[in-house]
Amino acid sequence: MERLVIRGGVPLKGRIHVSGAKNAVLKLMCASLLSHEPCCIRNVPRIKDVATMCDVLRSLGARVDWRGSSLWIEVPDKLDYTAPHELIKSMRASIQVMGPLLVRLGKVRVSLPGGCAIGDRPIDMHLRGLRALGARVWEDQGYIYAQGERLRGAEIHLDYPSVGATENLMMAAALAKGKTTIQNAAMEPEIIESQEFLNKMGARIRGAGTNKIEIEGVEELGGADYQVIPDRVEAGSYMLAAAMTGGDLTIEGAVADHLGAVIHKLLEAGVELECLDRETIRVRGTGLIRPFHLRTRPYPGFPTDLQPQFVALATIARGISIITEEIYNNRLKHVAELRRMGADIVVEGQTAIIRGVGRLSGAVVSVPDLRAGAALVLAGLAADGETVVEDVGHIDRGYEGIEGKLAAVGAQIRREGIEERAC
Ligand code: EPZ
Repeated sequence: MERLVIRGGVPLKGRIHVSGAKNAVLKLMCASLLSHEPCCIRNVPRIKDVATMCDVLRSLGARVDWRGSSLWIEVPDKLDYTAPHELIKSMRASIQVMGPLLVRLGKVRVSLPGGCAIGDRPIDMHLRGLRALGARVWEDQGYIYAQGERLRGAEIHLDYPSVGATENLMMAAALAKGKTTIQNAAMEPEIIESQEFLNKMGARIRGAGTNKIEIEGVEELGGADYQVIPDRVEAGSYMLAAAMTGGDLTIEGAVADHLGAVIHKLLEAGVELECLDRETIRVRGTGLIRPFHLRTRPYPGFPTDLQPQFVALATIARGISIITEEIYNNRLKHVAELRRMGADIVVEGQTAIIRGVGRLSGAVVSVPDLRAGAALVLAGLAADGETVVEDVGHIDRGYEGIEGKLAAVGAQIRREGIEERAC
């Protein structure tokens, strides 16, 4: 188990480079299962979730090799139809192999993903969509089975714009017979990445980025060579690092088009922003953070993956902020840890009411989940004294080299290994 030791109060200054988007890369890796030719995905972050997905693909029989910051994926004709239970349990995104395996092999078995640290995360919309495409889907002893020799296109209406369900069904429909329409589709930038990658493989998909996606099934898909967009959640996290330390950071890979709601909220909070070009934003903290209200929403609404980090920002605002988590039913675990640092936060249901304090104080805090971990690092950077952020493995799931990137712009931060206590 490793930890980060941070001495806060240092205004961060300089340039930070944002890595490739975790929540796009993981899906493109799954989409490569549809191809009979090699695929190359570029700008891939070296993070734990990507390593887990490499293991999932290898466990199915695919060959996955790193070449610098690219992944080279070759999928044999003989693929296994089931991914190991322990891998699916460790990362929910693994269920994105269902669509590709079902449509390529005619069957798939995955273990039912449990809830995770941020709440119940059922996959009913994924399964209803696969049934609409003609698959037989059933559950047995904690596993989900789906079978269907030749999926056929269908009109699918999602009850909620689920990112994962949209992507899983796009991949299944790409090789189904006939036309599929997904209504009330998710509109995240990562959905557009899936469409562009699949179309490079020979798929015929249009409408990604809108709430209606149309897929004309084709007979087979080839390889693709694709450069992934920067990670908008990582970008937003580092924009907050400038705001919370009163620093001046230029974030390379902050795509303004992907960060509309975040930019709007930062301006409302009094942070100075300057878009230097399409993918670079300069952020200056003024020392005064105005309180704000926000509620998380599907894209283009405010992203839930930056909610914990904005709670951290609100802890040092000049007034009372109100933040409501609308996507997940248990994504406020960072509040208890922030309170240990002197934050004044009251939680009512899924709403955090945050009364800003002048300064946070360093403390030993424990990371409950990936984005809460980022929030605690940000709080440590802004706090007086030393903060020890334990269980850093959660953060390493989604942030490539976080301490190196922050130290390069002046943060006093180091990683320490902790010998596992002999039990
Ligand atoms: C993706 O998760 C992201 N993960 C999440 O990022 C992100 O928070 C989420 O989209 C929303 O933007 C990846 O892309 C790997 P959903 P996903 O399906 O696809 C409910 C991070 O920190 N739901 O849009 O699982 C679900 O329980 C992670 O990088 C159903 O009820 O999100 C949740 O409450 C965390 N039934 C809501 O919808 C379903 O069949 C949003 O889920 C599917 C989802």
